[in-house]
Amino acid sequence: MADLTSTFVGITSPNPFWLASAPPTDKEYNVRRAFEAGWGGVVWKTLGEAGPPVVNVNGPRYGAVYGADRRLLGLNNIELITDRDLYTNLEEIKRVKADYPDRAMIVSIMVPCEEEAWKAILPLVEDTGADGIELNFGCPHGMSERGMGAAVGQVPEYIEMVTRWCKQYYSKPVIVKLTPNITDIRKPAAAAKAGGADAVSLINTINSITSVNLDSMSPEPSIDGMGSHGGYCGPAVKPIAMSMVSEIARDPETSGIAISGIGGITTWRDAAEFITLGCGNVQVCTAAMTYGFKVVQEMISGLSEWMDEKGHTSIDDFRGAAVPNVTDWQYLNLNYVAKALINQDLCISCGRCYAACEDTSHQAISMSDDRVFEVIDDECVACNLCVNVCPVEDCITMEAMTPGTIDPRTEKVVEPDYANWTTHPNNPAATTAAE
Ligand SMILES: Cc1cc2nc3c(=O)[nH]c(=O)nc-3n(C[C@H](O)[C@H](O)[C@H](O)COP(=O)(O)O)c2cc1C
Ligand code: SF4
Ligand code: SF4
Repeated sequence: MADLTSTFVGITSPNPFWLASAPPTDKEYNVRRAFEAGWGGVVWKTLGEAGPPVVNVNGPRYGAVYGADRRLLGLNNIELITDRDLYTNLEEIKRVKADYPDRAMIVSIMVPCEEEAWKAILPLVEDTGADGIELNFGCPHGMSERGMGAAVGQVPEYIEMVTRWCKQYYSKPVIVKLTPNITDIRKPAAAAKAGGADAVSLINTINSITSVNLDSMSPEPSIDGMGSHGGYCGPAVKPIAMSMVSEIARDPETSGIAISGIGGITTWRDAAEFITLGCGNVQVCTAAMTYGFKVVQEMISGLSEWMDEKGHTSIDDFRGAAVPNVTDWQYLNLNYVAKALINQDLCISCGRCYAACEDTSHQAISMSDDRVFEVIDDECVACNLCVNVCPVEDCITMEAMTPGTIDPRTEKVVEPDYANWTTHPNNPAATTAAE
């Protein structure tokens, strides 16, 4: 059976599934139950400095985006870091770590961007026996207005500076959690690396307003008639997170730094995808908040079965396996030609593919009087839209054309050789270079 043991920046956990810093990891009661349910590790809910804790709103702090079946696709929150006393948290962390030595215990921290503030909290965290720290440079609301969270994560120089302080005043691994509210994620990742970070984790939540109440005219969640942007997470953010992870994994300046993948991970398959893009482990928040702690059991059994099926004996066997296949658009093979194919045995004649292709794509699907839908190869550009709108899984597939055959749309031979935009005759840059 596949070994799910994960060793991330030297921290070993029985599986690669950690709970991300958020309400599920807010207190001893939760974390003990999470460990009993099987989570390999946790990143404790972000701690702030000693003194009066922050204060959360006393009204709704979540907003949601649903699919047609009311399944939660995206979650928005306006919660702050922990609103519990620092020393209470530290005592709980120490107790739980002592009772679960085989699980990863990471402490998330966010204090003002001043050396003294970090110097003060780091020895206290070290004393808990936790395995490492995660620097919360990502929280997009509330804390950022106070010069913390995303306000630091958006300035690479600050990231590098604070990371250096942490490496100086703390002896164990330092993970830098990145905000996605930035144009080029490679810049903060490079800054973390330059500051000596052992790893980066991403993504934290994305600036968002999920809805506006059209009676009160208030963004939701609404607090006494007013709303504020919050942080978006859940399945909807997974594509954004995976793109950012892959950018870090393949950029020469940042490649090699350990990555903890976060963002919309709900199933074992999501986790496996993040790992193929270079992540050493993954963190989960919304899935646990939606389905409870036991959701990890499906993740563990699913990943283990898939690894057995593929012959992978460890996480490292497939970590980063997809990274070499992530490229820039200009290097995609323009000689690759495919066509859509409708499986008539599966088709329920709903007509969605026809509407999509006829109205917004390439008029490449015909509809007969008795509602038989067929692809017109002479028109099909293989855009895949029909596949994406068809309600029946695998009813429409994309079939690659055999090299040497004629594409009826272009009436050209499908060339066997790889050729991309950099040398294409229509590319002015390629023409200029050739002259
Ligand atoms: C209610 C809530 C509170 C959160 N609080 C924190 C926090 O204190 N520190 C932190 O680093 N991230 C916090 N996060 C962000 C999560 O750790 C995680 O990065 C984000 O939710 C994306 O993962 P997901 O899609 O699995 O939820 C919070 C998320 C939610 C939903
Ligand atoms: S792949 Fe695109 S062009 Fe071809 S049939 Fe489907 S929607 Fe139309
Ligand atoms: S969308 Fe799918 S099921 Fe509906 S008509 Fe097209 S092929 Fe058939």
